[in-house]
Amino acid sequence: MDQNQNGLKDPVKTSFNRIGFPKGFLFGSATSAFQTEGYDFNTDWHEWEKTGATTDHMTDHPAADSWHKWPEDIELLKKTNQNAYRFGVEWARIEPEEGKFDETAIDHYRQILAKLKENNITSMVTLHHFTLPLWLAKKGGVINKRFPFYFACYAKKVISQIGGLADFWTTINEPKVYVLDGIIRGKFPPNEKSYWKAYLARKNLIKAHIRAYKLIKKIDQNIQVGINQNLTAYVPVGNNIFNKFMTRIARFVDADIFIRPTNKFTDFLGINYYRKYQMQAKRPIAQEEGSIKNEYGWSINQEGLYQVIKENMKWGKPIYITENGCADEDDNIRPEFIRQALEYIRKAINEGADVRGYFYWSLLDNFELAEGYIMKFGLADINRNLRPSARVYADLIKKYSSDLS
Ligand code: BGC
Repeated sequence: MDQNQNGLKDPVKTSFNRIGFPKGFLFGSATSAFQTEGYDFNTDWHEWEKTGATTDHMTDHPAADSWHKWPEDIELLKKTNQNAYRFGVEWARIEPEEGKFDETAIDHYRQILAKLKENNITSMVTLHHFTLPLWLAKKGGVINKRFPFYFACYAKKVISQIGGLADFWTTINEPKVYVLDGIIRGKFPPNEKSYWKAYLARKNLIKAHIRAYKLIKKIDQNIQVGINQNLTAYVPVGNNIFNKFMTRIARFVDADIFIRPTNKFTDFLGINYYRKYQMQAKRPIAQEEGSIKNEYGWSINQEGLYQVIKENMKWGKPIYITENGCADEDDNIRPEFIRQALEYIRKAINEGADVRGYFYWSLLDNFELAEGYIMKFGLADINRNLRPSARVYADLIKKYSSDLS
């Protein structure tokens, strides 16, 4: 396969690029509430951050200050021809105390949704993206057997107030990552290392999604509801039968543990794709493939995006790529990264995949979870200066939107 100057595999020379994107395809970017809004002191993540636990040991939480600067964020979307935006609402702001809802916080999100509509920007809103209100975290968070009930009450409140203003809702961002990093590896809040608690958390997250889905549909049958699944592409090393077996297991665990029980209760599948792994039986840990690394040290391989799309067509739902991003402060890799994402999506569409949107992660540099402020995923920095890759994305959107088939 051809290599461009950054060493990324180049799919563009092949002949699958004849047909354009489907009409109405969403070209957008994504953020999350806690990682972007800043100054949200009422969450378990802020408590954790205050202890200096992130890689950069920063204890303050400005993030990108989107709580105040959200109109500027919408300007960034407009400037770059994006027609869609995925963002999050923060549970801790909406329900700062158990059962007490803050109407001003809901109104804040109402204004954002209205502004997006006014600008013909399709919205996708996430109800839960890793963070919990402190009152709930103190009760055990997702491990508490009443978690599905608490989540459903919160979802009901939000949807009954502003549900119809958004085009799409997602309930829970990356339940698998939440369980893996928060409850098995102890890397994120709630900082647990317990398989038993992971089992309980998985059960509760699934129940919470299903309960919220049913409630939302009762409020308004037309509201589109999905879930964001983090999916990894796995390939076996060589032709070894054991490596192939390991790969099958990895693929199964990666997708099935959360998609299979929730799929019936979704209107679409949100895929967050970041990584591709090589699997071999003799090593317990998957090796990363590819020579180019982002600032995280993650190998970049966008062909994996194509692979996960193809593998997950079997669930029979429309697919939205709800995250795909690259930490690259100097913006060396990101332009090609985005171009390849779109090319591989086109390839999948041309082969029958029902992919309806792409959201680059992230619109802005933000609070990058365990890494604090070190990783720069943004199309723009926190001062809202667009990086050159944002222009590349804008031009690609323009080009593809004009030859929509
Ligand atoms: C998460 C984001 C995070 C990104 C990059 C995704 O799995 O949903 O919140 O910022 O990865 O680490």
